[in-house]
Amino acid sequence: MEKKELIYEGKAKMVFATDEPGQVIHEFKDDATAFDGKKRGTIAGKGRTNAQMSDIIFRYLEKKGVHTHHIRLLSDTEIVTWWLEMLKVELIVRNYAAGSLAKRLGYAERTQMKSPVVEFYYKSDELGDPMLSRQHIRELGLASDEQLDEMAAIALRVNDILTPYFEARGLVLADFKLEFGLREGRIYLGDEFSPDICRLWDAGTGEIMDKDRFRQDLGRVEETYAEVLRRVKEEETGLRISIYVSPKKGVLDPAGQAALGALKSLGFGEVSDVQIGKYIILRLEGIESEKVGERVEEMCERLLANPIIEDYRIDVEE
Ligand SMILES: Nc1ncnc2c1ncn2[C@@H]1O[C@H](COP(=O)(O)OP(=O)(O)OP(=O)(O)O)[C@@H](O)[C@H]1O
Ligand SMILES: [Mg+2]
Repeated sequence: MEKKELIYEGKAKMVFATDEPGQVIHEFKDDATAFDGKKRGTIAGKGRTNAQMSDIIFRYLEKKGVHTHHIRLLSDTEIVTWWLEMLKVELIVRNYAAGSLAKRLGYAERTQMKSPVVEFYYKSDELGDPMLSRQHIRELGLASDEQLDEMAAIALRVNDILTPYFEARGLVLADFKLEFGLREGRIYLGDEFSPDICRLWDAGTGEIMDKDRFRQDLGRVEETYAEVLRRVKEEETGLRISIYVSPKKGVLDPAGQAALGALKSLGFGEVSDVQIGKYIILRLEGIESEKVGERVEEMCERLLANPIIEDYRIDVEE
């Protein structure tokens, strides 16, 4: 793939044309800005972290059925995506109060929302990215009501997918910002997913693991970005579960009895009993290990086995 002219340079990325129709390269920079560009600096290695993290997260979202602009990682600091006609509305999903939302609602920092809150913002540097209502968006003609509904639904779906994903990596996803765009008339999730655009807190210590370390001069900024990437790169913490279901002792097992009779008539006189059950394999993802036993037992009780006439045994493999 050939990297062609620079189409756009933002604060965090440069977007280049390519020789592939409809495809662009995003080069992630180490530059960091905060408070509408009033605070500036660099975070060594941030470009690498954000490109690689975006690659991993967007691939994961695609696997879960979310349509994103992502095509592939090109180098340590570059990704290839579809070019989107970006919509000028940004969506923020909040699971916990932090920053401007804590102030706006008068909540203490880190208050958990009763349910995830979706907000719309105007992507406008001149105006300082103000928050918008649906009526404002209609007035400005930034997106149709249907497009807004679709973006909000995708944003909540992304939240449902990524909250357990980060939880499995010891991180609380407090909030995040998404940008969307159009390609062939359809809405795609665009831009990036990195510690620049979300708030992540260490699940054990509560330590801030995102761009707030830069905003608030908390130190160890480079190390924190690298640590988040390390956790995201960890192998999927998927669990393989084997379930053996067999008829309870003393319960009539017609299939077993039929097999016993047939085996004997074939000359296998040494067989004294046959029980026929089933063997089920499940894969689980994004579940806390303490909850696995209880959840799988519930699956057996409610669907996979008939607890009145069947016994089951659950084996968990890492
Ligand atoms: N698939 C895509 N196609 C076209 N443009 C995209 C795509 N994904 C993201 N963009 C846009 O590319 C730019 C990325 O640059 P960057 O993140 O540095 O911008 P920014 O400085 O944060 O924001 P701004 O848009 O205000 O400059 C953003 O304007 C973003 O909306
Ligand atoms: Mg940006």
